[in-house]
Amino acid sequence: MTGFSDTWLSARAAWDGPARNRTVEAALRAWAAARPDRLVIVDLGAGNGNNQRHLAPLFSQPVDWLLVDNDPALLTAAEQTAVLKEADRIACKTVDLASADLAKLIAGADLVTASALFDLVSAPWLGRLLDALAARGTALFSVLTYDGRMQTDAVPADTETVRDLVNWHQRTDKGFGPALGPDVAVALSRGLVDRSYNPSEGDSDWCLRSGDPGAAELIRGWVSAASEMAPENSPQIDAWAAAVMTDPGGLIHVGHRDHFAVPRIS
Ligand SMILES: C[S@@+](CC[C@H](N)C(=O)[O-])C[C@H]1O[C@@H](n2cnc3c(N)ncnc32)[C@H](O)[C@@H]1O
Repeated sequence: MTGFSDTWLSARAAWDGPARNRTVEAALRAWAAARPDRLVIVDLGAGNGNNQRHLAPLFSQPVDWLLVDNDPALLTAAEQTAVLKEADRIACKTVDLASADLAKLIAGADLVTASALFDLVSAPWLGRLLDALAARGTALFSVLTYDGRMQTDAVPADTETVRDLVNWHQRTDKGFGPALGPDVAVALSRGLVDRSYNPSEGDSDWCLRSGDPGAAELIRGWVSAASEMAPENSPQIDAWAAAVMTDPGGLIHVGHRDHFAVPRIS
């Protein structure tokens, strides 16, 4: 994907909901249930609010939400469609996370969340965020982190070629320096353990069909990324995309990981 349109984010919400790992989510719910007081939650890279809308019903106590993104139009959509209980409050902040003072941004948060953000970030940025979390013992809930797995019903060898090129593209700079891309799920687990966090994690894979709304945009994004990395392979990549899109019932499987982590001693 080259951008994050409201339409694209809304389409992918239909795949995100069923994909989220319910065991990891249960760990978040248990943590929240043991903290009856008002929660302060910062959602990084909030986009048009998919994560807020999914998470809000999980909390019985009042929540102060802070939604952060560098796209003010997406944040406006997020604020207008937020799911809020009567005592909840919401604020939105337009911030470039790449250059933000992360410790200041998340100061006072009980929980930092992010959905489909961390594969964009670099190793130093992730380290800075984890340091900021660890300094205050803040909990982390990260979902739908792409982990490099991709399968389709098209010829497996062609899918592997496209996947490898997409994963190469994923490691290019997405504004935070060279991105961790498909390596971030493992880097996140290690970084959390290194800082005495106790991560609970699991798969949250998308399973969609070629005819689903948004699937064509997903495939187009992969074609564009793969062709950028290997222009000489463009005809093969285009043929692969045509094969995937020929059968509207064809399966597309995309690997993700979810993490919930609190400090071992809090
Ligand atoms: C894949 S979208 C995920 C959006 C949302 N969390 C969701 O799950 O639907 C990544 C989000 O990160 C935001 N983003 C990317 N780079 C950013 C940056 N440098 N600073 C702040 N937000 C950024 C994008 O605007 C986009 O909303």
